[in-house]
Amino acid sequence: MSLVDNRYHRYILRVPEKTKRQAVFVEKIWEVIMGTFISLKTAIPGPKSLELAKRQANVVAAPMCDALSPAWIAEGHGALVTDVDGNTFIDLTGGWGCMAVGHSHPRVTAAIKDQAEHFLHTDFTAVPYEPYVTVCEKLVRLAPGNLEKSVALFNNGAEAIENAVKIARYATRRTGVVVFDRAFHGRTLLTMTMTHKAHPYKNGFGPFAPDVYRMPFITPYDPSINVNEWEKLLTTYVDPSTVACFVVEPIQGEGGFRVPSDGFLEMLREVSSKYGILLVADEIQAGVGRTGKFFSIENWNVVPDIICSAKSLAAGMPLSAVIARKDIMDKLPGSTIGGTYVGNPVACRAASEVIDIIEDEHLLDRAIAIGKLIRSHWDAWKDKYEIIGDVRGIGAMQALEFVKDRTTHEPATMLNGQIIKECLRNGVLVAGSGIYGNCIRMLVSLEITDEQLTEAFAVMETAVARANASR
Ligand SMILES: Cc1ncc(COP(=O)(O)O)c(C=O)c1O
Repeated sequence: MSLVDNRYHRYILRVPEKTKRQAVFVEKIWEVIMGTFISLKTAIPGPKSLELAKRQANVVAAPMCDALSPAWIAEGHGALVTDVDGNTFIDLTGGWGCMAVGHSHPRVTAAIKDQAEHFLHTDFTAVPYEPYVTVCEKLVRLAPGNLEKSVALFNNGAEAIENAVKIARYATRRTGVVVFDRAFHGRTLLTMTMTHKAHPYKNGFGPFAPDVYRMPFITPYDPSINVNEWEKLLTTYVDPSTVACFVVEPIQGEGGFRVPSDGFLEMLREVSSKYGILLVADEIQAGVGRTGKFFSIENWNVVPDIICSAKSLAAGMPLSAVIARKDIMDKLPGSTIGGTYVGNPVACRAASEVIDIIEDEHLLDRAIAIGKLIRSHWDAWKDKYEIIGDVRGIGAMQALEFVKDRTTHEPATMLNGQIIKECLRNGVLVAGSGIYGNCIRMLVSLEITDEQLTEAFAVMETAVARANASR
């Protein structure tokens, strides 16, 4: 059914040009779209979202005003998000991968409310509290490796990485940091330096932190070198005896869900041990169950020295963790790492609940089942649509890569953008990724049902088919 609402169009005419440019779909005469889960009652964005965009444009910093969704959220539950105009979307972005247990899981919100009624903050180093210790106990139990570990909590992913590097430098008394092509580690000075992609993350923000070296991340889809050539190449960039740590995402997130070639992570473990270098696994995006293991590195027989976790760890509350070998961590004197808000008790209660939910609801098995369902659709699409160059991932962490040419892998960035916008317009929130912005990645909640996923894929396939036809 198609609706033309003159009031809406009179309203649109009053919206300033700048706001209109930010609102992607304002000119669309909308259709009411009703799936079992998707329910679109207005154009996207609707009038209330447009009003908020207008207020935003007046006072919010411009670089913060380029949200993926032009619709503003009012409610989120499980894998569904309802906007301020009453439109309901299936959310495959999960707050950029923070919602493994879904939006507003009742057990998480209950724990948050309970903690808020007791106390909100002390700073663990001023007056300590149990929820901090409980999270650390759970993470030590879950982290791979039969060795003693200890945990320090922080606020976000970049802070965890910054601190992992501090810990590695202090423990080894070395300064070098080796990172990988297409890596993403954050936006602070050090983590921005460690991140690969120049635009939008680095351009104009130099000079960068010293002593960071970038090496190939080898994958079967685009192997730049052989795994056995990597060590030799490393020695041409830096003397390994000056390197404190390798920091690697076991499966790259922003880089386009790149799964390493067989033997790559094992080789990194071997080479790092050989030179006394610490191996840091950045589990910030790939961890907390998404791949069917609590930590993605558990998909390989590799035990890192340090693990960084964040995002889904506390279901959207700001919390990150650095889990390190105890002998390494405990070398640091008191107060050398920390921060006023780190390991906030409310966030700790949320994280504790997330870990229990993953275990109680068997969400690791669910991640594998979701992965199989995704692949049953996407592998079939690859046979039908030439623009799909690759389908890859482990468990529920799956990505589609769009190309202009399957042989050269020339990225189809524009088409990817079109597909994402069309999905949004039709009630499915999907996240892009990849160094060339030509991938779609699934950061879906592990609470999503098969029916919700199937409905989302119907929308996605229509968009992919249209993009394929428009080549
Ligand atoms: C792998 C990885 N590391 C680090 C970060 C930085 O985390 P944050 O944005 O919480 O600082 C991210 C964020 O996307 C990430 O995906």
